[in-house]
Amino acid sequence: MHHFASKDGVLHAEDVSLAALADEVGTPVYVYSTATLTRHYGLLAEAVAAHRNALGDALIAFAVKANSNLSVLATLARLGAGADTVSEGEIRRALKAGVPAGKIIFSGVGKTDAELAYAVGVGVRQINVESPAELDRLIAVAERAGAVPDIAIRVNPKIGAGGHAKITTGGEGDKFGVPADEAMDLYARAAASPYVNPVGLACHIGSQITDLTPLEAAFQLLRSMTETLRGRGLEVTRLDLGGGLGVPYAGGAPTASIEDYVAMTARVLDGLGVEAAFEPGRLLAANAGVLLSRVIQVTEREDGRRFLVVDAAMNDLIRPAMYDAFHEVVAVSPRAAGGDNNPTVYDIVGPICETGDTFARDRDLPPLQTGDLVVFTGAGAYGAVMSSEYNTRPLVPEVMVDGARMAVIRPRPTYEEMLAREPLADWL
Ligand code: LLP
Repeated sequence: MHHFASKDGVLHAEDVSLAALADEVGTPVYVYSTATLTRHYGLLAEAVAAHRNALGDALIAFAVKANSNLSVLATLARLGAGADTVSEGEIRRALKAGVPAGKIIFSGVGKTDAELAYAVGVGVRQINVESPAELDRLIAVAERAGAVPDIAIRVNPKIGAGGHAKITTGGEGDKFGVPADEAMDLYARAAASPYVNPVGLACHIGSQITDLTPLEAAFQLLRSMTETLRGRGLEVTRLDLGGGLGVPYAGGAPTASIEDYVAMTARVLDGLGVEAAFEPGRLLAANAGVLLSRVIQVTEREDGRRFLVVDAAMNDLIRPAMYDAFHEVVAVSPRAAGGDNNPTVYDIVGPICETGDTFARDRDLPPLQTGDLVVFTGAGAYGAVMSSEYNTRPLVPEVMVDGARMAVIRPRPTYEEMLAREPLADWL
């Protein structure tokens, strides 16, 4: 559930009219709802707390890659969330937003020595090691730093899942993690080093997963590996279950609910006596954000095809171009009934010079004209974070709403600012 709803014929984010917001801040712009973020975090935290027996004092570490805006992170940090990070930049953001280092997990397939040293230096909760080569580098970094970081070994369970091949991470041929047998040897090797402290196992098999079966299989594997490692005299106290639970982009109820998901994890980990960690990104943020955009024009073809040309483009929201992702498009102020108000079929496109800049084809919408506003829903995760200035379009701004309050939490840069970032080569 989210807090974007129509009031008096105008779509609102909580108590803020998106029409008024567009007039004030301009478009395109991302708009986030505090109440929605809070609700999603609360549902997950409640479900996790209800299964404390099986999951221990579990950490919910928001996957910063999904939405790294400092105000979004600070909102979640105040609710008690930790952070799942994949770069020094993300660790810096999480710390700045008020996430304690002790709640920050550092994951990723290619952490540099400098990033590892930074993470060790600030004392993150845990570094998830993804390969033997990385373990060697981390041991060297930790020895130089005179620290003994807690680590988990990320397992590649050879179970891939997710909404698209490009966001499946746990498959055999995927670059992530260490196959189970090798992972257990690596765990033993880590335990033999005085410079790292292996505390657990981690996995993340993909994103936008709507069927719990592959997740359950992966968690079962983590359980049996834990038992095997303990049988070898090694201590395992934490299991990091990754993120991945999908959201209903087309509205309606999710195919796998938060409660079912958490109950499944509790069933699998029951009696194991580990502390679980969850790394949700999309689940918390996707439906807490929309991309608000204005219609530039409607281009009609003789064959009847209608292109709704909007001022947002693939540089602002790349998911349709990159993953063929579905985002619902909703008119902010559909005209009052009467007149020519029949739904019209549109292809919704941005202004960028490639056909990939097509958000949706053959969508039914109320009749729209130049100046009207639409939103792309489900855009709070992997939206603004993946934006760019392609075609020298200013980086899309972000706004946070809380009840009747709103704040610009990333302003749109001016053209002067954009051009000033590029000093000419001194011979030009
Ligand atoms: N943990 C790890 C180690 C991950 O690699 C990811 C996402 C997450 C957690 C969070 O997954 P989530 O709960 O959000 O599914 N840009 C793509 C999604 C890429 C996800 C990659 N890893 C998209 O727009 O669909």
